[in-house]
Amino acid sequence: MDEKQVDDLVRRCQEAKEQSYSPYSKFRVGAALLCQDGRIYTGCNVENVSYGLTICAERTALVKAVSEGHRKFKAIAIASDLANKTISPCGACRQFLVEFGVSWDVIMTKPDMTYKTMKTGELLPLCVVSESLEEEKVSKLA
Ligand code: THU
Repeated sequence: MDEKQVDDLVRRCQEAKEQSYSPYSKFRVGAALLCQDGRIYTGCNVENVSYGLTICAERTALVKAVSEGHRKFKAIAIASDLANKTISPCGACRQFLVEFGVSWDVIMTKPDMTYKTMKTGELLPLCVVSESLEEEKVSKLA
């Protein structure tokens, strides 16, 4: 990924935050997901009166991309309104991210456009991935 692509993602996740539907937490989050083919999908958090049904910005972007046929990603950038802290993905989103690989970039931004980058797998060490289900088991099931 070149610098221009990163800058573009950082800007796009800030813009996506504007669509946040967060009447309960008043915590706006935006995401911009770069697919292997260069396409970008954005997402925002979508809350619900039944609180637990809330969908985070990262998962919104991933579901949009996967449902349009994308499964290979280069990076996802995330934005919130926190002035002094980079926003980092929740546990559920981390699991959702590693589903599509443990070594692509998560760009965690601040409103001043500064950011910190980590790999998906670094954010969820010892994670369960699809290969985990194929590891040797104690007994063979019918
Ligand atoms: N949220 C996200 O969308 N992504 C994150 O990385 C952290 C949390 C949302 C969920 C909820 O709507 C609000 O932020 C407060 O937790």
